[in-house]
Amino acid sequence: MKVTVVGAGAVGASCAEYIAMKNFAAEVVLVDIKEGFAEGKAMDLMQTASLNGFDTKITGSTNDYTKTAGSKVAVITSGIPRKPGMTREELIGINAGIVKEVTENILKHSPEAIIIVVSNPMDTMAYLVHKTSGLPKERIIGMGGALDSARFKYRLAEALECPISDVDGMVIAAHSDTGMLPLMSKATRNGVPVSEFLNEEKQNYVVEETKVGGATLTKLLGTSAWYAPGAAVSVLVQSILCDQKKMVPCSVMLDGEYGESDICLGVPCIIGKNGVEKIVDITLTDAEKEKFATAAKAVREVNGDLKF
Ligand code: LAC
Repeated sequence: MKVTVVGAGAVGASCAEYIAMKNFAAEVVLVDIKEGFAEGKAMDLMQTASLNGFDTKITGSTNDYTKTAGSKVAVITSGIPRKPGMTREELIGINAGIVKEVTENILKHSPEAIIIVVSNPMDTMAYLVHKTSGLPKERIIGMGGALDSARFKYRLAEALECPISDVDGMVIAAHSDTGMLPLMSKATRNGVPVSEFLNEEKQNYVVEETKVGGATLTKLLGTSAWYAPGAAVSVLVQSILCDQKKMVPCSVMLDGEYGESDICLGVPCIIGKNGVEKIVDITLTDAEKEKFATAAKAVREVNGDLKF
């Protein structure tokens, strides 16, 4: 099956690379507005195929969406990334116009595509795609929770001084420095609650470092991160193309779940061939419920800045 990745910058190229390396897709089409850029990235990546042992074909296109026709999944990474000191929310003006136009172009040639939104502010961009595309809500997935959960697991393993494969955990709510909700109450090390190993101070450290995970990298790199975002996208794309029905926190349109409606926020979802196949309503503690509601309020304020 075919996958389109719009935006051949660092995040888009990482998406294409990880999807290809996992060898489950027939073709990845990279699209970019910069003349020759997507073609160049695609050619470079294709020249790793014999070295890395994958058969996925990677092609590039300078804004020619006819090349994307018949895609099962389209990933939108286009827009400007944040710079050090910037919040994801400050990108809204420029990125909203780009995301809207890209979505229209994708759907013209792949009317059945499932859209994965990566551009920031991600929860608001996912909401924008809902409001402007008329797609059923199952087919719009905001990528944030998968990435934030990976960062949470990284910090948990660091604090527990154990391998990452021993830990499990999820981050829900908003993909923002203040609205992220790492679910410490449900995090485990081989099935044992992490509170058995980490005192409150250490737990708080993990939570705070997870929430600013993207900002920490932006400060170090001078632009936003790409490896973990690309890998997180590849997990979602694989769950769709291979109908794995993995449970992944994604930003999806809520209709009463978690006490919210008419908003995209990160919640655990079952991701399969139809996109969002189910929103999993888990029990939150009262403190977590309160934080989820606070995050929703902040995202709603940002959504208010959208002009359709
Ligand atoms: C980050 C960007 C992708 O968190 O939002 O790195």
